[in-house]
Amino acid sequence: MKKILVTGGTGYIGSHTVVELIQAGYETVVVDNLSNSKTGALEGIEKITGIKPSFECIDLCDKSSLDHLLSKHKDIVAAIHFAACKAVGESVQQPLKYYRNNFTSLINLLELMSQQAIEYLVFSSSCTVYGQPEKLPVTEQAPIQPATSPYGNTKQVCETIIRDTIAASTIKSIALRYFNPIGAHASALIGELPVGVPNNLVPFITQTAIGIREQLSVFGNDYNTPDGSCIRDYIHVVDLAKAHVTAVERLINKNNKNSFEIFNLGTGKGVSVLELIRTFEKVSGVKLNYKITGRRAGDTEQVWADTSFANRELGWKAQSTLEETLLSAWKWEQYYKETGGWK
Ligand code: UD1
Repeated sequence: MKKILVTGGTGYIGSHTVVELIQAGYETVVVDNLSNSKTGALEGIEKITGIKPSFECIDLCDKSSLDHLLSKHKDIVAAIHFAACKAVGESVQQPLKYYRNNFTSLINLLELMSQQAIEYLVFSSSCTVYGQPEKLPVTEQAPIQPATSPYGNTKQVCETIIRDTIAASTIKSIALRYFNPIGAHASALIGELPVGVPNNLVPFITQTAIGIREQLSVFGNDYNTPDGSCIRDYIHVVDLAKAHVTAVERLINKNNKNSFEIFNLGTGKGVSVLELIRTFEKVSGVKLNYKITGRRAGDTEQVWADTSFANRELGWKAQSTLEETLLSAWKWEQYYKETGGWK
């Protein structure tokens, strides 16, 4: 059984990817500092797969702990690197936290991968690198725009760090640029767990629907879009997780065409905030209390992915409909409430 290191493996996308890796026959070694996740994710993974992944609570900024872990698992063949701070607003308030954490973690990981002869890295990147693209849908060739937040800047610079490291080492990598991941595992045993007031749209919607939040604010209806609200490409987190298995296999099986490849992970379909609210109301049967407020600073007006490169080269395509995806998010919110949540 091939062993994969998953950093940030108790987090939202990480935990769903661990499930898909286990179900595809891989052994996973999960590390996470639990700064934005809980070990309940490991129990959820075990309930779904029947396997409790090996886990160590490690902060990747602590290089000696990571070194120690990797020396214990000399047979790790690849790393999938999710561990990072990811809140756009917080990154504006605390830029150094973001630069220290996101850069130091990646640099430590890359240095130790070279030392331990781990050749393959799948990296979590983001469509934020495109800013507001001139042409839609956006392809991987679209120019990178100046970042609008320190968080976005860390994604751009991390891609550069990987590119430069690859040029000087035997490491090969795939960076996956996520559009907007939403939804939860069909079992409702794992899902997104925002700490405090959610920044992202779908957790805010489900928390409003279940009564944790009073009212959802729709940030602007005066954009140059058909209904005036912003447009995004919302992708089911399980579809996204499956793409990581495909990407890591592409590297392990040496099917990659370049030592650094970049793929868009989206559905290829743009959905407005108001359309998403209407679809949620339809699938959940809950009428949402929302109001239109002013625009949120830094928001991109509209972005959705050209997925043809990922579809063709990875042989991967997002499968879930928006209805299925929103229903899975709603089931997770309900399950979490019924069971009293993770400790
Ligand atoms: C942002 C980041 C993205 C990051 C993601 C995860 C940018 C441009 N995008 O995505 O890189 O990976 O967060 O943290 O930095 N909205 C509301 N009301 C709300 C919340 C959101 O109307 O309460 C709207 C937003 O204006 C936006 C859409 O919903 O149009 C999606 O917002 P959100 O879920 O926060 O994701 P992004 O901002 O697209």
